[in-house]
This record gives sequence, structure tokens and C-alpha cells, in this order.
Amino acid sequence: MPVLKELDHGTPGARSERTVSLTIDGFAVSVPEGTSVMRAASLAGIQVPKLCATDSLDAFGSCRLCLVEVEGRAGTPASCTTPVVEGMVVATQTDRLARLRRGVMELYISDHPLDCLTCAANGDCELQDMAGAVGLREVRYGMDGANHLSAAKDESNPYFAFDPAKCIVCSRCVRACEEVQGTFALTIEGRGFSSVVSPGMGEDFLQSECVSCGACVQACPTATLIEKSVIETGQPEHSVITTCAYCGVGCSFKAEMRGEEVVRMVPYKDGGANHGHSCVKGRFAWGYTTHRDRILKPMVRERISDPWRETTWEEAIGRVADGFRRIQRENGVGAIGGITSSRCTNEETFLMQKLVRAGFGNNNIDTCARVCHSPTGYGLSTTFGTSAGTQDFDSVEHADVVLVMGANPTDAHPVFASQLKRRLRAGAKLIVIDPRQIDLVRMPHVQADFHLPLKPGTNVAMLNALAHVIVTEGLVDEEFVRARCDREAFAEWTAFVAEPRNSPEAVAPLTGVPAEAIRGAARLYATGGNGAIYYGLGVTEHTQGTTAVIAIANLAMATGNIGRRGVGVNPMRGQNNVQGSCDMGSFPHEFSGYRHVANPETRGIFEREWGLSLDPEPGLRIPNMLDAAMDGSFKGLYIQGEDIAQSDPDTRHIVAGLSAMELVVVQDLFLNETANYAHVFLPGSTFLEKDGTFINAERRIGMVRRAVRPKGGMADWEITLAIARALGCDWHYAHPSEIMDEIARTTPTFAGVSFAKLDELGSIQWPCNDAAPTGTPIMHMDHFARGMGNFVITEFFPTDERTGPRFPLLLTTGRILTQYNVGAQTRRTENSVWHAEDRLEVHPHDAEQRGIRDGDWVRLESRAGATSLRAQVTERVAPGVVYTTFHHPTTQANVVTTDYSDWATNCPEYKVTAVQISRANGPTEWQESYRAHSDASRRILAAE
Ligand code: SF4
Ligand code: SF4
Ligand code: SF4
Ligand code: FES
Repeated sequence: MPVLKELDHGTPGARSERTVSLTIDGFAVSVPEGTSVMRAASLAGIQVPKLCATDSLDAFGSCRLCLVEVEGRAGTPASCTTPVVEGMVVATQTDRLARLRRGVMELYISDHPLDCLTCAANGDCELQDMAGAVGLREVRYGMDGANHLSAAKDESNPYFAFDPAKCIVCSRCVRACEEVQGTFALTIEGRGFSSVVSPGMGEDFLQSECVSCGACVQACPTATLIEKSVIETGQPEHSVITTCAYCGVGCSFKAEMRGEEVVRMVPYKDGGANHGHSCVKGRFAWGYTTHRDRILKPMVRERISDPWRETTWEEAIGRVADGFRRIQRENGVGAIGGITSSRCTNEETFLMQKLVRAGFGNNNIDTCARVCHSPTGYGLSTTFGTSAGTQDFDSVEHADVVLVMGANPTDAHPVFASQLKRRLRAGAKLIVIDPRQIDLVRMPHVQADFHLPLKPGTNVAMLNALAHVIVTEGLVDEEFVRARCDREAFAEWTAFVAEPRNSPEAVAPLTGVPAEAIRGAARLYATGGNGAIYYGLGVTEHTQGTTAVIAIANLAMATGNIGRRGVGVNPMRGQNNVQGSCDMGSFPHEFSGYRHVANPETRGIFEREWGLSLDPEPGLRIPNMLDAAMDGSFKGLYIQGEDIAQSDPDTRHIVAGLSAMELVVVQDLFLNETANYAHVFLPGSTFLEKDGTFINAERRIGMVRRAVRPKGGMADWEITLAIARALGCDWHYAHPSEIMDEIARTTPTFAGVSFAKLDELGSIQWPCNDAAPTGTPIMHMDHFARGMGNFVITEFFPTDERTGPRFPLLLTTGRILTQYNVGAQTRRTENSVWHAEDRLEVHPHDAEQRGIRDGDWVRLESRAGATSLRAQVTERVAPGVVYTTFHHPTTQANVVTTDYSDWATNCPEYKVTAVQISRANGPTEWQESYRAHSDASRRILAAE
């Protein structure tokens, strides 16, 4: 069982290859050059008392508790700021040191409340520990003098409290906010005795710049900054290491528990993706797991207009199996299908696609990754040979130039953003290609060298122009291309991008970005040293999403920015397990490991493993399933953990398709929008309630471990298994580890993966097999997975979605830090204090033309539909562009988005919709009726 408190070595590890040997308290110690004496002592098992030092922060040397004696040196240096020297002889325990330390502690305690026994941090307080460690028995100064004991608390943040009476002004919080998080929200105001920690300029935490990442709370050695959940519940008594279920960063956490109750989620120091850091979602927004809206009993109904009726698992599973078999008897094997979720574990996803292929007997399986990163899969496998990002996150520490395109890391991938900001503060250059001025463009101590605010829908033109500069100005890495890439394909691509129509001057009118800026950015990326590209849904969710991914891969190959640390092509995955759900064979044409169903060899592997013959024809994608439902040939759908009625484009089409089906089965935590069209509802389980694995954006397989029992009685994998068995499949799995064993047996890139190995290594980046038994942090090191890198011509075709007199503006969409996707989880947490509604960002020029003021209700209309929301007038968007988030179902931005989609993968064009906006009096009619409807269903459920 993991310990509650990990050892804190006091200062960060040094990276030097050279070793230094010294003696501490008579013990010989060898450590890397640059290590502090404090850390060297700790590594040798000797704990020097400390307060202002912690190993997640650079040494500061303010508390003077860690004094040591060094032979041959006068005085008593602070061990946290003193680096080791060859042959050094250190004493950490002498009478003189003991006296000095007691004196320091006495001063601290004389200005600290003596309420240890009733303090929420009792037992988890370094001040208390240090008082014990230095043997403090009395405080000579009394508490009558000037002190801070009556300072007012700040409880404005929903998740943590700040009690300055307990502050020892060690500045760990200030440094954590700067060094770890990179937000610079805190300062120490005043000097000497009047020094106090302050969030912002006289503001409280909630009003300040603070983004509630929790790094300061984590760093605080006292109860000054403390989680409210600890105050309310008490100190945890055991912990379970697991993986965050929100975004594709895949942070590792310790779920600290009292019995079956989570007390707090603490970012895990040894987490490969996050190294002990977190964001507000993973750290604090887990209240949805026990929210009263959760459905905990299976429910059924005959027609979607009927009220729900609670029932037993037996009846619900029986109905699903009987219903699907009847539909297949009457309409053919292909009349049913399934949709997997990027929120569920790999094991659950693998089982879902197995159910469809082996249980249903067709390949009608698809995933919500269809609507986000399917172009990444297609684009990167075409060029490099593998459908995944090339680097680990730590690689960014070696990047010299970072190009961020169509991604907003500080909001959507905050923990990676902190790592990236650290690198930028250390001097790396930054190019941002985004229609909107995302935070990274200008924030404390970070400023983009180039921001190219292109018109939505012109990514490919922009990427071709960057390539044009690289090719025509002789910036190609000829040696890399000669050694690693297909020469013929390269020659064709070079000729294409060199054409004058791809020059920055030619595309400037299309993209709206001056040619000189494009040229400057291209030169910087090609010549600035290690160039790393990070991109997001602003690249993929377009009619040319796949073309843009290919164009990015072309750029990286042409400049030799592939196959080592600090470079690469990195798709920023949105949801926690987008990578895994694609890896596990969720697409209708592919088995796990991206192998086509038509390939007889691959099919043979699964046919032997599963003992039956499999359909060689690719199945239906989500949009095709809905079309087929409208035609009457597709009648039954099993949807696990996905809300297509809210997250997929063209809501009206989805609703019509779902309404036309005879049996829709929804498995989820809450009655989501899709459940309005379902006949059977199966209560799903949260990540805290099951074992399994997620795979993050760096191909890292992280363990999800059960901390509490499934509240509905079954983990999601157990529900799928029960359905399979009711359909007659003779499947037996006692634990998800056995499903992973099956994945390893059938999928070459996972051949070396097992739960036992994950327990041992913590996490593993695939491929993991005989050639790479501990995984592969960086791909394509010596050669591309497909052999030679493949350049592909990327002709730019403007989207058919054009502005015109009726719809003169372009709408693009994105995320905000505190909410997540359609908000099903985060809206059921205190996170709503920061983002209670979606707003429409409008440039002042466009707002003025239409008489719209900040905060006004506006009607947002496209040829697909209309919705209303409040305006936020801001220069973050360019004139002609409006922007909104899609976290609230009462807004449903997807009512407005169209049915255009990527040519290769059907990924919807969420990022470009021609719209008009006008002042409105309030919500539209459908929004009012939606509100009334959901209020009514909540009342019914509450009454039940
Ligand atoms: S709030 Fe905590 S971390 Fe910050 S200065 Fe005070 S005691 Fe140190
Ligand atoms: S919670 Fe994070 S952002 Fe807020 S003050 Fe603390 S470290 Fe800074
Ligand atoms: S960055 Fe992503 S994975 Fe990490 S805590 Fe935040 S939401 Fe969770
Ligand atoms: S721990 Fe070294 S000076 Fe505070």
C-alpha cells in the first residue's frame, strides 16, 4: 500500500553525469554534482530539519533551520543552499546545531497558534514535526508581544482555505506558484515582521489570478493553506495511486482516503506525466463522483416518451440482450452497433469492441475520438507509420522553439502548460498559430515571438506557406531527409510547396496574416535549434483536418525535427483516454493496434483468440449509423460513456437518428442528453470505482485503481461482460488485468504490457514489447515506424462553409480551464463558480456594428440552427471571428455547428461555422424548454 507521506529530499535532484563523494555524519555518500548537502544527507537516510525547503522547489535558504557544520569552514551554512563538494565532511547533528535550531523554532512557535490538537493539519504539519525533531520543549518569549494570531482567514476559494495566522512566511507557496505552476499569483507583501502572503493586489484568492492548481497548498508546510475537504473530513488514513480521468495529460494522483471516502486527491510525485503537479480539475473537481444526480439503479422504458422505471440488473441486461437479438433476427446482423468512450478504461473499450465484433458479429463500432483526433491517427500513420504523438512531455525541456497550433494548453492541458511555460521562461522561443489570442501569447514572463492569428479554416494554407519558406530559402535539413525519408515523395512535395501560390505573400489574403510574420515564424522553426510542434483540435476539427496533420508532419520531417528529445509532433489529446480508445480498436475498420479488419493475418490472430470467424468488412461510423437509422436499416445502439446528442455536431440530425431506433442503451454516470432517446439506462462507474488503465497524449499507459466500490454495483467492464454473456458469449474475466493480458496477446505494440509490469514501473509508454521491454518515450529514433518518412502533398481547399451576407462571421470553439467537455462532471462540482455559463467572445468592432455591449444576450445563428448566450466583448478574437466554449447544455454550441466533416475521417468541422449574431432578449425557445425539461426531470428523480 502506498505511503501517505513520501520522503521529501528537500531540494530537487541534480542532472549532472559527474558524481561527487563526501562524508555526512561519518557515512560515505556519492551523489551527482550540483546536489545540495541536504539532499545528499536525505539520500543517505539522514534527515536534516527544514521548513522553507521542499524537493519540488529550488532552494531558498530563508528559515535557517537546516544549518550544518562543514569541516574546515567557519559558521554553519544552510544545507539546502550548499552544494556538495568532493571530499567534504559534514556534521548534521552537534550540540551547537541543536541549540541554534531550537532557537529558530522557538521564534516560529512564539507567533503561531498553539492549537495543534484541534488543527485540521494535526499529524500532517511540518512545523509540528520540526518542533519535535529539534526537541523544542518550551517557548521563552510568550505570546503577548506583537503577533499575527488574529489575522483574518480567506475562505473565498471553494476548495482551499488560507489562514494567515498560521503562516511562517517560508514563501514555499509563492515559489510553487511561480516555479511549478507558472502563474505568479502570489507575493510576499511588506518586510520583516509585517511580511504576509498575498494573492494579487489586495484581492482574495477567488478574485485573484489564481487558477486553483493547488501547488501552493501542496507546498505549504503548515495548515495555512489547506484543503477544505481535510478540514471537513479529517486526515486521510490510506491512499490509492490512480490516474486523473479528465484530460489527456494523464496526471497521476494519490486518492487519499478515509475508509470509502475520498479526503483529497494529491498529485503523485512519481507520476511520469505530471511529476507531482496538477490542475484544478484533477486536484479538486471530484465531487461529481458522489453527486446526487448520479443514477445508481438500472432503468428501462418501452418508448422514449414513457417515464423511466427502475429495475434490477438482471432485467435490464436481459432486455438489452433480447432486444439486440430480436433486432438482428428481424433486420440482419448489421442492424446494431456500439459506441465506445474516451473516458472509459482501455480494458472496457477493448471489451466493447470485442462485444461488437465477436458478440454482435459486425464491425459497427465507433468512438467519440471520431469527433476530435481521428485525423491525427490517419495523418500520422500516413506520414510516420504510427497513429500517435512522437514524444514524452519531458521532451519539451529540450526544445528551443515551440510551435503551438490550434491548441490552448493553459486551459485544456494545464499541467503540460506549466512544464512548457517553465521551458519558455528559460529561454525557448514560441510561435502560436491560432485565430484567438490564447493566454500563452502574452502572460507573466512568457511572450510569443510570433502569433499568427489566422482566419479559421486556413490551417493548410498557412502550413503550406511555412513549408514554402523552408524549401525556397534553403532551410531543409537535407541530411535528415536523405537518410530518413522517401526521396521521391520528398521531391514531389518540394515541387508542390515551392509553387508561388503557396508563398506567404499569396496566402496572406486568405489567412489574414502578413507574409513577413509567416516568413519569420518559418525561419525561426527551421533554424532555431530543436523545434517541437504541439497541436490540438484547432488543427483536426476541420474539413481538411487530416491534411493539416499531414502538413505538420511534413514540416517536422523537412526540418529534421523528429527522432530525438526536444523535437517531434505532439497531438494534445482532449480526453483522458482518447489515445487508448483509438489504440484499443474502437474504429470500425481497425482492430487494436491500428490493424485493418480486412487483413486476414490480423483477423486470424483474433479469430484464434476468440474462437470464431470475424467480418472482414469495415463497419459503420457514427454518422453512418445515424443515417442508416433514418433509412430504417439500423435499429439498435449500445453507447458506453458518451453523450453524442450533446458532443457531436448537428444535434438535430443526431436526435432524429436516435429517435428512429428501436433500442438505444446508454451506460453513463448521469442521465445525459443522449439518454433522452434511450430505452435502457445502465449506471456507469467513475474512475474511482474500478481497476484498469488510461493512455495519455504521450502514449503513457497509467494505472487506474479502485478506491471505492462501484456505486451502481458494477464497474463498466462488468456490465459489458454481463451483456456479452447474456448474448451467449462464453467469456470469463475475473479482473481487468486479464483483459490487458488479452490485449497484450493480440496487439504487438502492447505485447510487453501487464498490470504487474505497470505496478513495477509506474507507467509505460507503448510500444512495449521485446524490442522495448520498458516502453518507448520517444518514437522514430533511428527510422520511422513505416520505414522511410512519407511526404504527402497537402493541397489547400477552402471549406464549403463560407461567410456571406447572411452569415458574415466565423464561429470557432474551445475549452476553458475549469470546465471539461460538455460539463457533465465539472458542472456538478464547485468549479462552476468560475464558469457558470458559456459566453460568446466578440471583437469590439463587430459588437459595436451590431449594438452589442458586454454582457448582452446575443442570438448566434448559422444555417444549422440558433442558440443564445451572453456576449463578452474582447480583443482576444480578431474582427470577423467569434468564439465560445461548449461546456453547458443550455447553450449547446453544437446546435449551430454544421455537418461538414474531414474528408478522410468524418471528424466534424467544429472549428469553422459561418454565423450571424444579433442582440437578443434572452434564451431561445428551445433553451427555455430545455431548462424546463431538465428541471422537471431533476424534480422527478429527486422525488423518486
Ligand atoms: S502560506 Fe504556507 S507556504 Fe506560504 S508562506 Fe505561509 S506557511 Fe509558507
Ligand atoms: S492554487 Fe496554484 S495558481 Fe493559485 S495561488 Fe496556489 S499555486 Fe498559484
Ligand atoms: S492536467 Fe489534465 S490530467 Fe492533469 S489534473 Fe488537470 S485535468 Fe487531470
Ligand atoms: S530549509 Fe534550508 S534554510 Fe530553510
